[in-house]
Parts: sequence; structure tokens; C-alpha cells
Amino acid sequence: MSSKETGFTSRLGVLTATLGSAVGLGNLWKFPALTGENGGAAFVFIYILACFILGLPLIIAEISLGRKGQGDVFTIFKRLSPNTAWISIAWMGIASGTFLLAFYSDVAGWVITYLIKAIGGDLISTDHLITTEIFKHTSTTPSIALAGQFFFLAIIAFVVLFGVSKGIERVTKILLPLLTILLIIVAIKNLTLPGAAEGLSFLFKPDFSKVNSTVILYAVGLAFFKLSLGMATMLTYGAYIPKDQNIPMLATRVMFADLIISLIAGIAIFPAVFTYGFEVTDGPSLLFVTIPAVFASMPGGTFFTVIFFLLAVFATMGASMSLIEASVAGLIGIGITRKKAVLAVIAIMTFFGIFATLSLTPVLSHTTIFGKNIFSFYDFISSNMLMPLGGFLTAIFIGWKMNKEDIFFEVSNGGTLNNTVFLEIWYILLRYVVPVLIIVVLLNGLGFLSPLFQILGF
Ligand code: PHE
Repeated sequence: MSSKETGFTSRLGVLTATLGSAVGLGNLWKFPALTGENGGAAFVFIYILACFILGLPLIIAEISLGRKGQGDVFTIFKRLSPNTAWISIAWMGIASGTFLLAFYSDVAGWVITYLIKAIGGDLISTDHLITTEIFKHTSTTPSIALAGQFFFLAIIAFVVLFGVSKGIERVTKILLPLLTILLIIVAIKNLTLPGAAEGLSFLFKPDFSKVNSTVILYAVGLAFFKLSLGMATMLTYGAYIPKDQNIPMLATRVMFADLIISLIAGIAIFPAVFTYGFEVTDGPSLLFVTIPAVFASMPGGTFFTVIFFLLAVFATMGASMSLIEASVAGLIGIGITRKKAVLAVIAIMTFFGIFATLSLTPVLSHTTIFGKNIFSFYDFISSNMLMPLGGFLTAIFIGWKMNKEDIFFEVSNGGTLNNTVFLEIWYILLRYVVPVLIIVVLLNGLGFLSPLFQILGF
């Protein structure tokens, strides 16, 4: 598949589609949930560090490998390193993406249900008992949760059927600016609430005594999740990016824009948490209970709630489509038609997804894997294990396996970008810093390093 047949058609399209993959439920739902559960600003601080030190070098790495390999994720590794085990990076990415979409589509289903409820006008209330009850009903009633999930998966299948530039590019170009504007409106409203000062200090005033190995593991996991790394996605999109695009510039823009959207989402949520008596540790429900409460206190609240959840559906679609596209392109690469590939991928994701959804309902709530319910297990295995591992292997592949001149040629657009100093720093990060940090964080998060720390007297 060459970029001419399926690639993005404009510079703006490249930016919005890549950003469309990054921006999603990660900003609106996961970032606030993890920030609340892990002590606030200290978590945010470590997350930001992880974006700069691990996320940025790796997003440049994945996009460049994709553009150099010019193909689906399997073809990329077959071309760049024929007949080697490096292709396992592709397999891990596909596996990780499958686990991810399985639980992501459940949450997306809640967003759709909320949209429908918002249209009916029965969502907004500042009473936290009511908003909490609505959330529980939506996420733990099997028929409602499954219907939302199936509906969502059907919509993205439909859009991906139209292919990259016609479907994905077109949709993401319109939705992202709109979503950002609406988030800013909610954030401004939040700043006028009585709990604004408390909310902001929770988000921005770090208390480093709250940092431990789990907090770091989750912050790093979030950086991977947010930037769609270690999941074959950026590799696949890389192949669609025209040869004259400045990849480091594109990646930096995506990282900053994504980070800013998360922070605005935080400002749109935490002041309301403190104002209306929700708990910061409410986790997955935060987005769903606070946003209706904020809108309830605004004129035109119902209208804004509808628009908000509509845009949230779109953002979730941009991210999910990029994920599906990686597996779909992989199947097209072995000669299957786009239509059949989309249907097969959606069928597999739906199968795994049903278990995630039911695990939050009474039907499967007692089934646990390593002490986690299936939903959290999928999340943990993809965000905190497979994605960092994929990132680690990608860094080693570029830093130690590939020819330095070859990869520099790709990232500098054949030397025309004159970015050698930047590239040297990037290369050192990928060769030494990124792999070492990822391994330390992974081992530490799994508890393997604590005996060592004890011996060293920490
Ligand atoms: N980055 C997306 C989000 O924050 C999730 C995602 C991960 C999408 C990996 C595609 C691939 O919601």
C-alpha cells in the first residue's frame, strides 16, 4: 500500500488525523480518573515528564519507521529487517490494540448512552446522588452497556470502510477544533465555581510525597496510551505521511496539543468535583458525573451537554479508527479486501469487548484475573505492559539494530531539514535513556526492584 493510494491528502489532514488518534477518551476520561486516583499534581508532573522524555522520542520513532517502511505494520518490519523476530513488535502492537479497544469501546458506549440521555434532557443535575446513579445504571446494566458498545463499534466500522483519507481525515478535521472550543467554555465556567481554587491546586500544586512506583507506572502508561504508542497505530499512520512532511515538528505539535487538551479537561472537571461534593478518587465515573453537574449550573445546560457528548463521541471515534486501521491495514497487506478486513477486525474486537463490558455488570463482576476485573486487566495489560514493552523494543530497534544513516536520512527528509543537532539528541535518548527508563519503570511497577532498593537502603 503506498502513501499515494491511501495516504493523507493535505498537511492539515496529516496533523488532524495524527492528533485525532492521540486525542480521545484518554484526555477526557482517563487523564482525570488517573490524576484523581493517584494524588493529583504530582501525577500530572510525572506524566508531563514522561511525555517529553519517552513519548516525544517514541512518537517520532514510530512515525519515521512507518514512513520508511511504507506499508502496514507487518510489511514495515519485513522490509526493514527481513526474517527476524523484530516483527514481534508488530504482533504486540496488534494484540495491545485489541485489548485496548475492548475496554475503550465500553467507555465509548457510555458516552453514546449519555448523548442519548442528554438529548432527552434527563441527564443534567447538580445532585451528586442523581448523577452517580445515572452513571451506575449506564455502566452496570448489561443490556444498556452492550447496546452502547455495539452501536459505537458499528459506527467506526462504517467510517473505516471508506478508507483513510475519505473517512478518517475528513471526520477528524472538523471535530477537533470544535471539541477544544467547547472544553474551553466548560473550563471557564468551572473557574467561576466556588471549588475552583481547590480544583486548580489539586491539579497543579504537586505533593511529591504521594509519588510511588505505581504512580510512576501509571503515569508512563498514560503517556503511551495518550500518544497512541506501542500499538502499531503511529507506525501505520507513518506510512500514510508524505515524504516532505517534517516528522519531528509534527510529533512535537501533536504532543503539545494533546497535553494542553488534557490539562483543559482537568480544569473542566476538578473544580466541579470540589464544588459539588464528588470524590477525586471516583475514577472512571469522574467525567460522567461532573460534566452534567457543571452544565446543570449553566444557562442552556441541556444544549451544551448534548454538544459536549456529541463531540466526545467524535473524539473517541478518531482515536478508535486509528486503532482499527492498524489491524485492517495488516490484513489488507496479506491480500484481504478492505471490507472483509474491517468486518473481521470489528468482530474480534467485539468478542473481546463483550467480556470487558460484562465484567462491570453483575454478570461477570466476580471474575478476576490477577486480582483485577477483566476491564481493568485489559487496560493494565495494554497500557502498562504491552505498550511500554513495544516502546522499549522500538527504541532498541532504531538505536541498536538499524543503520544510523538510514534512519537519520528518513527523519531529516534526506538531509533537507537541517536538524542534525536535534537528531543526535533524539538518537541518544532512544539508544540509552528511553530503554533504560522503560525497563526500570516496568520492573519497579511490578515490584521486582523493591528488594534491590531495600539492599541499597532506600
Ligand atoms: N490516544 C487515544 C486516547 O487518548 C487512545 C488510543 C491509543 C488510540 C492507541 C489509538 C491507539 O484516547
